[in-house]
Amino acid sequence: MTIDVIAIDGPTASGKGTVASLVAQRLGFHYLDSGALYRLCAYACLKHGVDLADEKGCGAAAAGLEPVFKDGRIFLEGEDVTETIRQEAVGIAASKVAMLPAVRAALLDVQRAARKAPGLVADGRDMASVVFPDARLKVFLTASASARAQRRYKQLIDKGISANLRDLTRDLTQRDERDRQRAAAPCIPAPDAHLLDSSGLTIDETVAAVLAWWKRLAA
Ligand code: CDP
Repeated sequence: MTIDVIAIDGPTASGKGTVASLVAQRLGFHYLDSGALYRLCAYACLKHGVDLADEKGCGAAAAGLEPVFKDGRIFLEGEDVTETIRQEAVGIAASKVAMLPAVRAALLDVQRAARKAPGLVADGRDMASVVFPDARLKVFLTASASARAQRRYKQLIDKGISANLRDLTRDLTQRDERDRQRAAAPCIPAPDAHLLDSSGLTIDETVAAVLAWWKRLAA
């Protein structure tokens, strides 16, 4: 029997992570934050001085990743990197290593191994197009660049990390471009994805929209 997957893709700070984990909670499904794997790979490269454009070196770092997920925390080589990998600098580095096909290939099996009963909600850029093309429900979550920059700003400030809205908007636009323009698994909606613009929606309304699509499918 195939295990159901709900794929939630979209650009940076579109709210996918929050929405995907809440949908998973509501359905009692597992949750895959695929971006965390790219962030971990980028962090490992930065830590070991691997050039972010060195495909062989970054691919080896991705293949050798042995993260430990325990009690909501993430450890890499014994170091608690839960907060470190959320830093903007690591996100930017992640979008650079994510351009490399060797890195994407190395992370494919780890992501597919997350597909476990009773179901999986996976968030990222290519969940619907590459990793789980047979996902039962595909959602592409967007929001305007200014709404996303505001959200990311609030997220960082709430965590006590200093941030500047103008720099965030610039970095976010550059990251969007890199994610959209790359040849390998670009961040674009799958042809069969439902588009959801959350600019004017609360988290709860966005979660409700995804659950309504799911209910309709399950009916
Ligand atoms: O939280 P945010 O949306 O900013 O980023 P993330 O989902 O943690 O992903 C960080 C970076 O990893 C993105 O900018 C993408 O370039 C890359 N990524 C990817 O290429 N494919 C995925 N499935 C997930 C993330």
